[in-house]
Amino acid sequence: YFSFNCFILHTYIENVLLIKTNLMNKKPIILGIESSCDETAASIITENEQGMPTILSSIVSSQVDVHKEFGGVVPELAARSHMEKIDLITKKALDESGVKMEDLDAIATTAGPGLIVCLSVGLSFGKAMASSLKKPFIAVNHLEGHALSPKLNSELNYPYLLLLISGGHSQFLSVEGLGKYKRLGTTIDDAIGEAFDKTAKMLGLGYPGGPNIEKFSKLGDKNFFKLPEPIINRAGCNLSFAGLKTAVLRESKNIKEDLQLKYNLAASFQNTINKILLKKTKEAMMQFRNKTSLKEEIPFIVAGGVAANQSIRENLTEVCMETNFIPLFPSLKFCGDNAAMIAWAGIKRYKKKLTNKLDFVAKSRWPLDPSARYLKGPGLKF
Ligand code: KG4
Ligand code: ZN
Repeated sequence: YFSFNCFILHTYIENVLLIKTNLMNKKPIILGIESSCDETAASIITENEQGMPTILSSIVSSQVDVHKEFGGVVPELAARSHMEKIDLITKKALDESGVKMEDLDAIATTAGPGLIVCLSVGLSFGKAMASSLKKPFIAVNHLEGHALSPKLNSELNYPYLLLLISGGHSQFLSVEGLGKYKRLGTTIDDAIGEAFDKTAKMLGLGYPGGPNIEKFSKLGDKNFFKLPEPIINRAGCNLSFAGLKTAVLRESKNIKEDLQLKYNLAASFQNTINKILLKKTKEAMMQFRNKTSLKEEIPFIVAGGVAANQSIRENLTEVCMETNFIPLFPSLKFCGDNAAMIAWAGIKRYKKKLTNKLDFVAKSRWPLDPSARYLKGPGLKF
């Protein structure tokens, strides 16, 4: 306990020294705020001499307990919980970092995409802070936060291929620079995280679904059920999971309360996801190489909540060995929603003077590649 406290004290003193140096050298110190879904988060970030991030604090308060009994996020309850916690979480982030409010250079807040009622809480709070402190305000795209999140724990240069898999999004993007994204493929129906969550709900394996499916898959036979792999041989690297979800629903009705069969179904589901990702990742890599004409090793980043899944990491690492890509994953604490990735995107924007006015409104939809075709709804043709 004593040595742990010494460690905290030591880190704190290091932080205070760095803050002093950075204030003198005019290195930005940014507060990031995140409230787009079911995590209330705040983080303070600055840079070291080499331009690498120094995370002075990163506080994440999850609402798992609030939504557990409903098996999914209830927007109204999520917003209420953000409102109850946002000031405390921000205060904690400031206290832990040793940064004084007046020493912040800017306030960066997630402004979309996400649940409007949830986004509005963090956004209003961030704007109010920026306004009262007379500091610049930066509206951050949550997806840009995920897209840049691997830079929090590794050195990484543009361009890179990104697979962003979370509760609301599943897409392959060519990341060419800050704010420069080309979408190569996306889901035409459900997101992967959503498919994990719904599968867990159908099997009664608890909430949040992703981590539980991963856990129970280890106890099951992944080849027991033959499940569909929608649009596997067409539509480029676009993805689809609705048919897979329906098949899981059908099978889950047959197996009733047989635990072993439930584990087999969880394992077969995860295995099918892996087969789909393997095929589609190879396709995305081919498209990326053709587009960029790069022959050398290229970083392949997997980010977002689902990137925490170990079997997906292993599967995609194997793909990289065959294709001359270098696999890179954010550390586990930066896969799921957090504010460090928002503050980091904030620093990058602040340095390019990409700040926003205080009338910026929350956006439920905010694609990283605005030129990409909207690929949802019936009657879709490729
Ligand atoms: O990025 P995130 O925290 O929030 C969104 O922006 O959506 O992602 C949450 C999603 C949830 O659907 C959750 O079930 C999934 O990530 N997830 C996982 C794992 N951990 C979280 N899915 C599969 N395996 C996991 N270990
Ligand atoms: Zn997210």
